[in-house]
Formats: sequence, structure tokens, C-alpha cells
Amino acid sequence: MCGIVGVLGDHEAAPLLVEALKRLEYRGYDSAGIATVHKGKLDRRRAVGKLVNLSDLLVHEPLAGKSGIGHTRWATHGAATVTNAHPHRAGGVAVVHNGIIENFRDLRAELATDGYAQESETDTETVALLARRELDRGATPVEAARATLKRLHGAFALCFLFDGEEDLMIAARKGSPLAIGHGTGEMFVGSDAIALAPMTDRITYLEEGDWAVITRAGAQIFDAADRLANRAETRIQIDATRIEKAGYKHFMAKEIAEQPVVIAEALKHYTTPDGQLNLPEGIDFTGVDRITLVACGTASYAAHIAKYWFEQIAGLPAEIDIASEFRYREPPLSPHSWALFVSQSGETADTLAALRYARDKVARVLSVVNVPTSSIARESDLALPIMAGVEVGVASTKAFTCQLVTLALLALKAAVDRGRLTPEALARHVADLNALPGLMNHTLSLSPRIAAIAEDLARAQDVLFLGRGTMYPLALEGALKLKEISYIHAEGYASGELKHGPIALIDAAVPVIVLAPKDALFDKTVSNMQEVMARHGRVLLISDAKGIAEAGQGAWQTITLPEVSSAFAPILYAVPAQLLAYHTAIAKGTDVDQPRNLAKSVTVE
Ligand code: F6R
Repeated sequence: MCGIVGVLGDHEAAPLLVEALKRLEYRGYDSAGIATVHKGKLDRRRAVGKLVNLSDLLVHEPLAGKSGIGHTRWATHGAATVTNAHPHRAGGVAVVHNGIIENFRDLRAELATDGYAQESETDTETVALLARRELDRGATPVEAARATLKRLHGAFALCFLFDGEEDLMIAARKGSPLAIGHGTGEMFVGSDAIALAPMTDRITYLEEGDWAVITRAGAQIFDAADRLANRAETRIQIDATRIEKAGYKHFMAKEIAEQPVVIAEALKHYTTPDGQLNLPEGIDFTGVDRITLVACGTASYAAHIAKYWFEQIAGLPAEIDIASEFRYREPPLSPHSWALFVSQSGETADTLAALRYARDKVARVLSVVNVPTSSIARESDLALPIMAGVEVGVASTKAFTCQLVTLALLALKAAVDRGRLTPEALARHVADLNALPGLMNHTLSLSPRIAAIAEDLARAQDVLFLGRGTMYPLALEGALKLKEISYIHAEGYASGELKHGPIALIDAAVPVIVLAPKDALFDKTVSNMQEVMARHGRVLLISDAKGIAEAGQGAWQTITLPEVSSAFAPILYAVPAQLLAYHTAIAKGTDVDQPRNLAKSVTVE
């Protein structure tokens, strides 16, 4: 987490830094700060809370200079205070950092014995102090940075700025992404290319262990062994205009509403007009004995739903795991299996580490990502973009449904390659998927009704979500969405698990949201729902007209969705779950787009 940026410009750096930080605020918003060198002197401004607080401070206390670095923080070591805010400064050096320096305690103790005391509680200040000690010992800024980097363990993206050096930045990457932007007589550094989009579309991505000496004339990039490394410059296509809410009150509302369009886009990209698949070359499941899907959070629930598709439609054994467990469990993987990593950002630290673990153990590493230039995409044998467009709201919505669409198409490809689907049967499945944008539009029109229900839901302390089959992982996703933006405690359960413990929670105060399309598992789910109602539980049944007619009696509330193919129902049923979370958060007055303690891209483990 945390976003970092650096500018060696030919205009004032502060406005550019703040604009770039705005684009990085999705990475954290506990505090923000910038430092510049002006007339040879380093100076900095820092403010707690969102970037707007730093902007306000800069109005009263402007910062001049054409060279600068900036940071937006997601706190790891030390609370969100000004002292802990970046840039961290020690004498003539200032540093911004994304990641965690794992050996900072040892380094801090060593520095303290040399008389270099730390002011903040952060791991980052240790980096600044190490560089300062090198400078004090007579090193040049480049030598000081290089010697400092050699001492650091853990994951980091760093950018250094020095007193007296208006044409020098040093950037380094190990574990956390970092991009260098090339301008004309200007150079930039950013945690991602999106941050630099208004300034340049010419980007060089640093690779693991790289560090770079950057001046306005260009960047010299060195690898982990300090050899000069030739990293390619690429042109990226990112709309440089600021990502706008387009009249919506929140990005999340806009992103929920965009789903019919973006999933239609993904379907158009990956299928042909006659209902066949048009996936990239090289996806052939013949001979693949298993697929292992790994992800975090919402993306892991998309993977969980896809497990049902790979198993039921393609007959391919599928395992799922959350990345933070997978990477340390060291699971044995078959050399004939594929590993598939799902990530909106493509930068999630645990998912990336899991990918690296699997890379030389499986036949193929695939990823399903929203950011095609991300580390996960670049380190996969093949990356499938989900075509969702930039997702700004911290709670993932359109990326989730686009992940599902892409995963569904992959499962269909597996079924074709394994001889489980005729072209006609495939075309029927593709037609079912193509029906989704229209069905979603209808579902979105239920927003006012869902808002009315949410007024009541907002008073709950605890909420349960129940589902069977693919509706079980969707229940997990519905609960996650609700808790992360409304701060109401919510849990998702497989309906059949209810009486193995969670039923003890049921009373008239606990709303139970039942996700149950009228499919083969409907009767089973309804039996579990009856068990809840028999204990005075307040049931909100989300089903189609047939399901509501059959089982809606006695429910506290019902939401009637259009009929949908049972295989792909979770893609549609995600929408009311998202709307419920959204409207509940609105009713509670929480910060929908930037909920407390969260960040959009989780680049620390
Ligand atoms: C929840 C949410 C998170 C992410 C998770 C993985 O709404 O967005 O749970 O899904 O942090 O992030 P990515 O998909 O970027 O790997």
C-alpha cells in the first residue's frame, strides 16, 4: 500500500506531486506529504488524513521547487500522525516508501548506537537515517543510496531526494511496484503508470531488485548486482484525464451502474458473434490435470465461484486458496496443472508471492487482472484483462463481475478442450452470458427498493448471508461488501452449515439475507431459510419471481430479480448484494469510496 511519486520537472513540482498523489490515493489515505529541493534546500509539508488536508496546508504554506517527491500513506508502522507521515527526512536526505522494511528494528538499534536517533515510529525513517549516516561518512548521494539499499530486507519501493541536488532522484524497487516516466527534459517516478498519466505515457517498469539514478537527462537503471540494466521503455494507454464520478455521488455507485456496459465489453472481447470463444492463443486445457486458483478478498470469492464452473461445466478438478495461506503452506503442485491468479490491481503482495511460488512448479501460470501492466500480469505466462476499466471505489464491484465473466469463459474453454461441450452447447452458454447485461440493467432499476430496505438494515449490529452452490461464495462476498463499507458485522455461510453452529446467532435482531435463485438447490436453501424463520429470524429473500412466489411468504423482505441461467446467476446476484452494501453505508453516513483502514491496492503482506 502507500503511493509514492517523484518529479524532476521544469515547472513547480508541488502541484504535479499533488495531482499524481490524487491518482494514488486509492493506495491509502492515512496521511500525505511532499518534499522539494529549492535553491539547494530540502523542505517538506505533511498532513494527517486525506490528501485534501495536505492541499489546504500547501495553500497557507506553499512549497517551491521543481524537484520533489510525494507520498500518500496507509499506515503500517506507527499511527497516522504528522511525525509518522512521509517524506521522512534525516539531515540532507528525504525518502518516500511503499512496503515494509522487515529488519528495521535491528537497523534502528544499530543507528541509535551511532547517535542517529529516530523521531517517528516508522520503518521508513530508518532508511533516511541509514542514508544520512553514509553521507556523513563522506559518501556521495548515489553511493549513500546504494549502500543503504544493500542493508534493507523486506518489500519496498523507495524514492530518495537530496539537499543540494536539484537534478537527482534515486528510485529502487524490491517487492513493490515502481514505474519511471520519461518526459522531455523532465523525469518522473510513480507507484504506477496511472499516477504519471497526465505527465507522460512513456514508462519504464523497474524489475525486482532494480535501482535507478534519475536526472532530467534520463535514468540509469542498475540490477540487484549493480550491473547496468537495459529496461525497455513502453508507451502506455491510460486516459490522462482525471477519473471522474460522472454525476454520481460516489465512484462505487458509478462502478455498480457501469457493470452492464463493462461485462458486455468483456464478452465482446472474448467471444465471437456466433457464440464461440475468442480467447488469446495458447489457452489449451488438453492434458491439464488440475487448476489451482489463488487470490485475496473479493477476487478470491470470484475464484471460489469459478471453482464450481471448472468442476461442473469442465469436469476439471479445481482448488482454490487465499494467497496469504497458499504461499506459506507450500502446497505440492502437479507439473501438469495450471495455476490461475485473480487480481483487480495485479499488485496484491500475497497474490504476487503466491504466483512466484507456483511459477516453476506448474505447467502454466495464468492471471485474470484488471491492470494489464501490473506485476502479476507481467509475471504470468498469460494474462487475461477483465476489461472493467479503472476501478476507484475501494470496495470492488465491477471488477468482481468482470472477473466472473472472464473466469466463466475460461471454464467454458476448459470444457471445450476436455470434450465436454459441443459448439451448440457452448453457444447456449455464451448466449446465457450475453443475456446478463440486459438482466443487470433491470436489476439496477431495483436500486430505490433496495435503498428502502437498507434504511432498516443500517440499524442491525450483525447480518448473515446464506447461499448454496455458487451462491455460497457470493454470500461471502455480500458479507464482505457490507462490512467493509458500512462497518456492520456480517458473515456469509453455506446454507447447509447453518445448523452446525451459526444458527445460535439467530434472533429477531439479526437480518438473514438469503441468496436463492429458483434452481436445483432452491428447495434445500428454502428449508434452511425456514429454520431461520422458525426462530424469529428476519429473512430478506433474494430470488426470482418463481422463487419469491413459492417461498417469499413470511419473509421480512423480498427482492425479485429477473430469471437467469442457474450457472451464471452469481454474476447477476452480485448486483443486489452490492446495492445493499452501498445503500446501507449511505444510510449510516460512512465514507463509501474510502472506508476506514482500507486501501485499494494491498502491496504489503
Ligand atoms: C473488497 C476488495 C478486496 C480486494 C483484495 C484483492 O471489496 O476489493 O478484498 O478484492 O484486496 O485485491 P486485488 O483484486 O487487487 O488483488
